[in-house]
Amino acid sequence: MQIHLDLVGDQFLGSDLKILTAFQKVNNTKPAPKTKAPQAPSISIDHWSDKGLKEEFHNLKSSKHFKAAKDETLSFTGATGETVWVVGLGEKTKVSAEDIRKSVAKLYKGAKSGKFSTIAFDVPGFNVVHDEAETAQLISESVHMSDYSFDKYKSKKSEPKEITIILGHAEKKNAAKIQKALESTKHIAESIKIAKDFVNEAPNVLHSEEYAHRIEADVKKNLKGVKIKILNKAQIQKEKMGMFLSVNAGSAYEPRLVHLTYEPARATSKTKHIALVGKGITFDTGGYCIKPGASMAGMKNDMGGSATVYGAFRAAVLEKAPVKITCILAITDNAINEHATFPDAIVTARNGKTVEILNTDAEGRLILGDALDYACDQNPHYIIDAATLTGACLVALGNQVCAILGNDQKWIEEILKSAKEKDEYMWQLPIINEWRQDIKSKIADIKNIGTPMRAGTAIGAAFLEEFIKNDVKWAHLDVAGVVDSQSHLPYCSAHGASGLMIRSLTHLLVNAK
Ligand code: BES
Ligand code: MG
Ligand code: ZN
Repeated sequence: MQIHLDLVGDQFLGSDLKILTAFQKVNNTKPAPKTKAPQAPSISIDHWSDKGLKEEFHNLKSSKHFKAAKDETLSFTGATGETVWVVGLGEKTKVSAEDIRKSVAKLYKGAKSGKFSTIAFDVPGFNVVHDEAETAQLISESVHMSDYSFDKYKSKKSEPKEITIILGHAEKKNAAKIQKALESTKHIAESIKIAKDFVNEAPNVLHSEEYAHRIEADVKKNLKGVKIKILNKAQIQKEKMGMFLSVNAGSAYEPRLVHLTYEPARATSKTKHIALVGKGITFDTGGYCIKPGASMAGMKNDMGGSATVYGAFRAAVLEKAPVKITCILAITDNAINEHATFPDAIVTARNGKTVEILNTDAEGRLILGDALDYACDQNPHYIIDAATLTGACLVALGNQVCAILGNDQKWIEEILKSAKEKDEYMWQLPIINEWRQDIKSKIADIKNIGTPMRAGTAIGAAFLEEFIKNDVKWAHLDVAGVVDSQSHLPYCSAHGASGLMIRSLTHLLVNAK
């Protein structure tokens, strides 16, 4: 799939499918007298620049009944045999940027399953945000995300079809801005796709060693200037990452700690340094505290946090973010063999704290704790970690909302603002002292679980907080709910990886000052 900006208008003219919008006019004139027949609500297609098309539309009998209600679509064959879809968006002032993404996703999927190979969108008609570059970005973002499929294991692949998207009728003066927006959307979309591929990959294929290998290959191929260091088991032992190693103890594969560094071209001593840390459990069996079968299925997604931060890191590098970014991914599975860690085990973390492991299924916090301590040693000003940390997050915030917790309100609010600007749902949960107390152990410094069935997501965060040092401002994202199966978002798959939060994090990194 390719996206072209068409300023001349001839590509729009020549496309197989033209998609234009219509709005409902708000009727604030006096109501018609009762005696008269009810008037059809008036619609607005004033933004169509093609006069001929307007005339064709008005000549249609069916257009008389078209109300331009949200998602109402009228299809007709244009004068040159092309298909024209007129899609209603409701009242213009009530349409949001997210409505545009959703509407475009539905249209694109419909068009893709049809016979069309060139699909043209009339940009002014989608410009509810009054910025053509942003509108082009919304359309292309939605098309790219909707275009995703994971069919590498299907013997019969969906037919490869070369689709060209035409963005037509934008104003010439906006061309440069639009091209730039399309370029950056491409970077972000490509990074989202790679993150989704990682999450969707089968756990027997994407074990820890293979995952680190694939990241290394991608960095070397696509992220020029990024430094990469991958710690193997011996090096992780040298780092004294006792918690990380305890999770890996039952694995057939070595753990990996991927450490990436990006520095902007004109870095000074004042340049902000942000560290991203991700949970990369390639499969979570629960360990000896084994998950029942039904809850274990789907646990290949337990590396979703690492894929999310890697996706954001990748996009931010391609977008030449003005900040220094360190990206740290802690990767292993949580499996069982004769060496696997017993519940009741006590291990020493990298920061020296002793930890009683009362539940081997609370493994994410163990690998992240050591990774966070290591991240703090890189002297960042800020940290964001992302993890599919708790099932409790789904109980609290469902499948739709990402939880955010941390130790610095301003930092949290900056991230929340970014998420809001990208229309991704994120909500803050508190960490209170009582929950910090709840992880004190009777025989070690801390334990890896709190009171069962109580404030699980925050307890997980309170545990992670134990590994933040040097006054680093830290925020934790629990992505357990949002990492997959976003059936309410037409630009995400109903099953499989979502790629959510990558846009928010990239936006944050690229706009950081
Ligand atoms: N990976 C799971 C969390 C999870 C559950 C993610 C469901 C996505 C969907 C995590 O490692 C885990 O098992 N957490 C436990 C923690 C508990 C033992 C304190 C949980 O949520 O049950
Ligand atoms: Mg677990
Ligand atoms: Zn897990």
